Amino acid sequence: MAEFTLPANSKVKIGDTYKAPDGAKRVKKFKIYRYDPDKGANPRLDTYEIDMDDCAPMVLDALIKIKNEIDTTLTFRRSCREGICGSCSMNIDGTNTLACLKPIEDVKGDVHIYPLPHMPVIKDLVPDLSVPYAQLASVEPWLQADTPPSPTEERRQSPEEREKLDGLWECVLCFCCTTSCPSYWWNGDRYLGPAVLLQAYRWIADSRDERTGDRLDALEDPFRLYRCHTIMNCTKTCPKGLNPAKAIAEIKKLMVLRQ
Ligand code: SF4
Ligand code: SF4
Ligand code: FES
Repeated sequence: MAEFTLPANSKVKIGDTYKAPDGAKRVKKFKIYRYDPDKGANPRLDTYEIDMDDCAPMVLDALIKIKNEIDTTLTFRRSCREGICGSCSMNIDGTNTLACLKPIEDVKGDVHIYPLPHMPVIKDLVPDLSVPYAQLASVEPWLQADTPPSPTEERRQSPEEREKLDGLWECVLCFCCTTSCPSYWWNGDRYLGPAVLLQAYRWIADSRDERTGDRLDALEDPFRLYRCHTIMNCTKTCPKGLNPAKAIAEIKKLMVLRQ
């Protein structure tokens, strides 16, 4: 395979190369975006050669190996290592995904790793997610009801009512979808983006919640909801196999039905 080259006008420069140990037979190159705003230098792509006979199978395993054994300055988020916490989201081989769910062997050639796109970078692979988290708080993602709960039993749902939450509750808030959405790239200060809208719909669809009208009122806005143009990048990239575009379409349908 031809050696990867950056475009001539790229501000990202080729950085350091860390060679595989002598005698390594199955060498894979990881080309990783490095940026430290405190140092003031332009970003660079460092290359780490890993012996695949001495590395566990997922991209996150390789990142942890690099940090533990080769370069302790490499910075990334991770916690659960099994696709539950949502913290290891990044752009791998051109697609936003969770590093702990991405098998290295699925990447043909070198493994290119960048932070989630179109977000400010705090350091290396760690994006600043303050804006989407503030947007999440704005949709009040918790159960709201005036009817007091029974002192003897939980708030009940029928199996059919509960089923309506499938495909919604599984979201791990990794923001892979939001940061793949062109509408969010251009209007992320006002458009809520697919992850937050899926969360909004998760509570609109919950039979126990009594704030559906208020929740829809809060979304009735040319930017917060209607910047979605059904481009579907969000659904294509979701590493949990969810369909945020469908959740957004359901909200739009409810908007029409209540007129
Ligand atoms: S369907 Fe909507 S939310 Fe999803 S990528 Fe397209 S514009 Fe963004
Ligand atoms: S819908 Fe999927 S991609 Fe979007 S935040 Fe949830 S789990 Fe991540
Ligand atoms: S480390 Fe938790 S989702 Fe990857």
